[in-house]
Amino acid sequence: MGRLLKLTIILLVAESNVNFRVFAKDSTAVAKAFESNGVVPDVIPKAPSCLVKVKYPSGVEVNLGNELTPTQVKDMPSVTWEAETNSYYVLAMTDPDAPSRNEPSLREWHHWLVGNIPGNNLASGETLSQYVGSGPPKGTGLHRYVFLVYKQPGKLTFDEPRLTNKSADNRGGFSIAKFAAKYNLSDPIEGNFYQAKYDDYVPILFKQLRP
Ligand SMILES: *[C@@H]1O[C@H](CO)[C@@H](O)[C@H](O)[C@H]1NC(C)=O
Ligand SMILES: *[C@@H]1O[C@H](CO)[C@@H](O)[C@H](O)[C@H]1NC(C)=O
Repeated sequence: MGRLLKLTIILLVAESNVNFRVFAKDSTAVAKAFESNGVVPDVIPKAPSCLVKVKYPSGVEVNLGNELTPTQVKDMPSVTWEAETNSYYVLAMTDPDAPSRNEPSLREWHHWLVGNIPGNNLASGETLSQYVGSGPPKGTGLHRYVFLVYKQPGKLTFDEPRLTNKSADNRGGFSIAKFAAKYNLSDPIEGNFYQAKYDDYVPILFKQLRP
């Protein structure tokens, strides 16, 4: 009995050390990647300290600026973050590089916006803008696609147009930082991003958005 208790304590201590180290490493890595890729300050003034997990049905995962293809990200991903069960969250995905990173005159073009998500039960959230995959125009190079999770102060009433995945209207000229300020959200708690350039899926996506 005594030995079992001792073993349990050793295991608990070992586990908490591991968790702490993973968090500490992530926190630095996240800030570094957000800054070195210019997501800070192009999208938000301060990097989140945790990595939101984003996994696509194609099997690929988002990882701090890795390059993915429009084909790989065409379908809505699953997204998970550390959530409190009694809190509500906002999830956003936004592209500051529209139509290109060199001349981002449409910054930001937002791809996905969901609010009033209870805990991390994304499916129960209120979709403001339906998911649209990446559609970087031919010859515009790599675009950054940024995921951010914000904790809400409480349940909110969103005064936003509801956007479907069948039109590009109202997607451009967005600012997630302004949106956050409008709804009194503090800095995002988790974030992540990938990059993508044109591939053969882009014309198919454009057809969906401009039928
Ligand atoms: C568009 O959204 C609807 C849900 O409203 C979904 O069923 C459909 O698969 C989506 N289409 C594409 C091409 O993502
Ligand atoms: C944000 O906070 C201000 C000041 O407390 C308040 O007047 C306003 O109604 C809040 N906005 C929202 C959307 O909750």
